[in-house]
Order: sequence, then C-alpha cells, then structure tokens
Amino acid sequence: MSTIPSEKQCILLVRRPEAMVEESCFSSVSRKIAPLQAGEVLVRNIYLSCDPYLRLRMTEGFELGEPIVARAVGEVVSSADPRFSEGDLVWGFLGWETYTTARAESLFLVDPELGPVTHAISVRGMIGLTAWLGMLDIGAPLPGETVVVSSAVGAVGSVAGQLARLAGARVVGIAGGSKKVRHAIDVLGYDDAIDYRAEVPLAEALAAACPDGIDVYFDNVGGSVLNAVISQLNMRSRLAMCGNVSQYNNEGADEGIGLSQMLGRQATMTWFAINDHMHRLPEFVTRMAPLIASGRIVYQEHVTQGFDNVPGAFCGLFRGENLGKRLVQISDIP
Ligand SMILES: NC(=O)c1ccc[n+]([C@@H]2O[C@H](COP(=O)([O-])OP(=O)(O)OC[C@H]3O[C@@H](n4cnc5c(N)ncnc54)[C@H](OP(=O)(O)O)[C@@H]3O)[C@@H](O)[C@H]2O)c1
Repeated sequence: MSTIPSEKQCILLVRRPEAMVEESCFSSVSRKIAPLQAGEVLVRNIYLSCDPYLRLRMTEGFELGEPIVARAVGEVVSSADPRFSEGDLVWGFLGWETYTTARAESLFLVDPELGPVTHAISVRGMIGLTAWLGMLDIGAPLPGETVVVSSAVGAVGSVAGQLARLAGARVVGIAGGSKKVRHAIDVLGYDDAIDYRAEVPLAEALAAACPDGIDVYFDNVGGSVLNAVISQLNMRSRLAMCGNVSQYNNEGADEGIGLSQMLGRQATMTWFAINDHMHRLPEFVTRMAPLIASGRIVYQEHVTQGFDNVPGAFCGLFRGENLGKRLVQISDIP
C-alpha cells in the first residue's frame, strides 16, 4: 500500500519569458494535496517531459503562479475512479510536479510489456505519432526520393528520418554540432547529415548533400534553415510543417518564407497539430511497437535526474543540449 502524501513539490511559471527562456522564469514550491473527489486519481509522477511547444504556452496559455502542465508517466497511488487502481502505471498531461490529481478520463494506462515505460511519452506516444503522421501521411516519400529532416536527432526528427529510410528514401539530416551529425549517420542510419551551425551558407551544403534536389522536407525548426531548404526543392515537393523551434524564443525576426520559390516549384506546405490526430494513437502503437522491438527504429532518450533539474533540462532544449527525447526522472519506477 502506497503512503499518500499531504504535500507535493511543484514548478511554477513565475515570469513570462520575453526572449530566450531562463531558469529564473520558474520557481519550486510546496503545495498541499487535497483529498480526492469522485472521478479523480492521484498520480506519483516518475518521468516528466520537456517539450519545445511549452515555451509557446509560457507566452500565452499557462497561468502565472501555476504548475507547468506537461506530459508525464507516473504511478497511481490512490484512485476514486473504478477505471484505475493503486499501482497502475499511467501517462497523461500531468505536470512538472511530484504528484498530480487528475481526472480519470484524462489518463491512459501504460503497458510495461510493450517496452520502456518512458516510450509512452516519447517514441510510442504523441512524439512518435507526430513523426509518423508528418512523414508518412504528409511527406509521403517514395522509394528513391530525397528527404531532409531538421532537428534530425531530436525527439520527433529522429523518428521521422528513420521512417523515411524505411520507406526507401534517401535521407539527409540537419542538426547542430558534429556529435549530432555523427549520431544521425552512425546510429540512426541517415545517408548524410549537415551541421547547420558550421555549414554556411547552408543552401550550398544542402545542394552538395542532395544532388537530385529535395522532394520531402520535415520541418522542425523554421527560420533560415527552412529558407535554405526551400531554395533546393524539387517540383511538386512536399513540406511537412511540424514546428519552428528557432522562432519560439522570439530571437531575431522570422525571415519570412520564400513563397515565390515555393510557387515556382508547385510545392505543398502542410501544417499539422498532433492533438487533432489522437484517435490514431492505438493504430500507431500497434504498428510502431514491433518496429522498435525489432530494432528497425532506434530511439534515444536523454534522461536528466532530479526534480530540481527540470527547468534547466527544459531551457537546454533551446541550446541544443538534448540528443533524443528530453525527459527528467524525478522518482523511481515501482
Ligand atoms: N506539430 C505537432 O503537433 C508537434 C508535435 C510535437 C513536436 N512538434 C515540434 O517539433 C519540433 C521538434 O520537437 P521535439 O520535441 O522533437 O524537440 P527536439 O528536436 O528533441 O529538441 C529541440 C531541438 O531543437 C533544436 N533547436 C533549438 N533551438 C534552435 C534554433 N534556434 N534553431 C535551430 N534548431 C534549434 C535543437 O537541436 P540542434 O542541436 O540540432 O539545433 C534542439 O535539440 C518542435 O518545433 C516542436 O514544437 C510539433
């Protein structure tokens, strides 16, 4: 029987970042845990997720003085709902806090038989689904086509690139730093990779790495990287617009997109938000779990230890510190 605590630690947003997010935007406090109401479940959080989109919510969406809401995996320690029992492993939009009281209908059971429990909030969860949907439904690469992925060794990008390889495409990654470039080629199996920080102008490096032009681009970063890719697009190329992390901290003006080049190449640009596609998660898990188990999709998680290190781990996303999905472990797996 788990002991039910009376207090929890929470990381609050105490200042809205105006430019690059800093650890001083957050504060750790202790708060009382209220008794459960019918339909509620108390979860001891184990793994907390750090995601770039949270930075956007810090400008607009999250309340000041409230804990950051983010995906987490945890253990049910008390339940006032018949759907969950003490000891169940669950994931949901819980929070940067040691315990979360959640509505039962907002939680999903985690099956430890499927692999590491962290995968429920990374490669086997919404992150993997984002890569799957963006690459296979929107990018839809054909065998022999050239695919480029930015943030190529990140949480989403690393899966998107490998899915394109499995579809028979030639895949070129864009990432920051020589270590990430080597990881893209040696571990993830990319055909080539470019360090966007070192290769200036990037358009020339892309032209050299993609001699047949670019048919599909999976964009995680936007900004100048996107424009360099647009300059190398083939006719009727497809752009899966997943995110534009280079713009999230309001650093430098967005250059604007090379629309006339897009027009000239009759390229299609499709933005998508994975929240609209959650109904596809069960089908996706069925297809993805065997690919991971067989080693056809390799997945790396960058796990930081300790509750106090959550703000630093999050801010590090924008310094490119993570290789793979950034998580923080704050308590033990049962
Ligand atoms: N559409 C959706 O529903 C959806 C769902 C999930 C995620 N996303 C988006 O997908 C993208 C990737 O998310 P993720 O969770 O997989 O994060 P991630 O790629 O694991 O981590 C962020 C990475 O972004 C790169 N980065 C940071 N600042 C940058 C800058 N100024 N210019 C260029 N690159 C920069 C860094 O890699 P380098 O070291 O390589 O620079 C960093 O490691 C984000 O844009 C995110 O918002 C969208």
